Amino acid sequence: MTYRVSVIGAGIGAQHMAGFAEVPEHFQVASICDLNLDRARPLAEEHGCALTDDFAGVLADPDIDIVDICLPPHLHFGACVDALRAGKKVICEKPLVTSLEKADELAKVVKETGGFLSPVFQYRFGIGAAQLHALFDAGLAGRCYAGTLETHWDRPASYYDIDWRGTWAGESGGALLGHAIHIHDLLPAFLGPVARVFADVATRVNEIEVEDCAALSLRMDSGALITSSVTLGCAENISRMRLMFEGFTVESDHAPYSLAAGPWRFVARAPTTQAQIDAVLAEVGVVRTGYAGMFTALADALGGRGGCEVSLEDGRRSLEFVTACYHSARTGRSVDLPLGADHPLYASWVP
Ligand SMILES: NC(=O)c1ccc[n+]([C@@H]2O[C@H](COP(=O)([O-])OP(=O)(O)OC[C@H]3O[C@@H](n4cnc5c(N)ncnc54)[C@H](O)[C@@H]3O)[C@@H](O)[C@H]2O)c1
Repeated sequence: MTYRVSVIGAGIGAQHMAGFAEVPEHFQVASICDLNLDRARPLAEEHGCALTDDFAGVLADPDIDIVDICLPPHLHFGACVDALRAGKKVICEKPLVTSLEKADELAKVVKETGGFLSPVFQYRFGIGAAQLHALFDAGLAGRCYAGTLETHWDRPASYYDIDWRGTWAGESGGALLGHAIHIHDLLPAFLGPVARVFADVATRVNEIEVEDCAALSLRMDSGALITSSVTLGCAENISRMRLMFEGFTVESDHAPYSLAAGPWRFVARAPTTQAQIDAVLAEVGVVRTGYAGMFTALADALGGRGGCEVSLEDGRRSLEFVTACYHSARTGRSVDLPLGADHPLYASWVP
């Protein structure tokens, strides 16, 4: 089946449209919707789709199967609820919503409507991630001892010219919510649940309300100890993950916004041999990257072959992690996960 999609928001929505165009066997972009028609028009022309500024009209259109929400974060919750109630399947950019409470309310609406909602975490998809999963499947990893994550990006003052960015009201958070959320999404995917967080945050790079630097110390349920360093004041844009397993050490590619797009570096640790590792890596076939990979997993899920798609639970887990980080940073104490409705920041972490 080919699903007909309306992309809502012509900023990052442009990259979504390019991703859908890579998988025409599954998706056709039927329209681009943005209040700023001048911004969206070139995309409509490039992709040969309809142009509109009427979100309600998109929801009323029976020919649209999927609404892909690429709006500023404070609009996600309302847009998702409206789309689900209109009977649409929904894709929604990160951060899914702006509190754990809203994530749970959204889950209720999905259940009530029998709908489908998939948050966006496209960094998971690519050859590097597929290689690591193949080594897990081959039983060559063993326990993870420790690891480091780096989100070292550069955001000049002009990045914050867009009014919702850098503010609690518009963005609901800073580098932890908007930027490092991607690399932190890889942790549960590769290592299972996070058990404990200690976080320090600061605003040191730009004159904004929200944090642009963070230092995190994490303990995974498995016992692995992970540190995560986050800044938007690096001279270049680099994302990097290093994980030390019993059987090998893996270092990701450094591409800032697609760190799984290229092959990763795997160094065997005795008694595992490099030949064993290389034999597994040689069998990893062609893998779609980023948005195209994420949309392929989504099509598989919609076709009843789920398992690799980004789930609503993944979206909630990412917000639970952010909630724990803010609580730790404000109290100066470590925070144990999971968090429930009784957590003091459950309804909102916005100060
Ligand atoms: N996954 C990623 O790698 C990634 C990268 C960048 C941004 N994002 C996320 O994508 C979302 C959008 O970010 P952006 O940088 O594209 O923002 P943006 O402000 O550049 O674009 C948002 C667009 O939405 C339009 N809009 C606002 N209200 C609307 C409405 N009611 N109806 C129709 N259009 C409306 C605006 O006119 C604007 O063109 C944010 O949640 C952001 O965090 C994700």
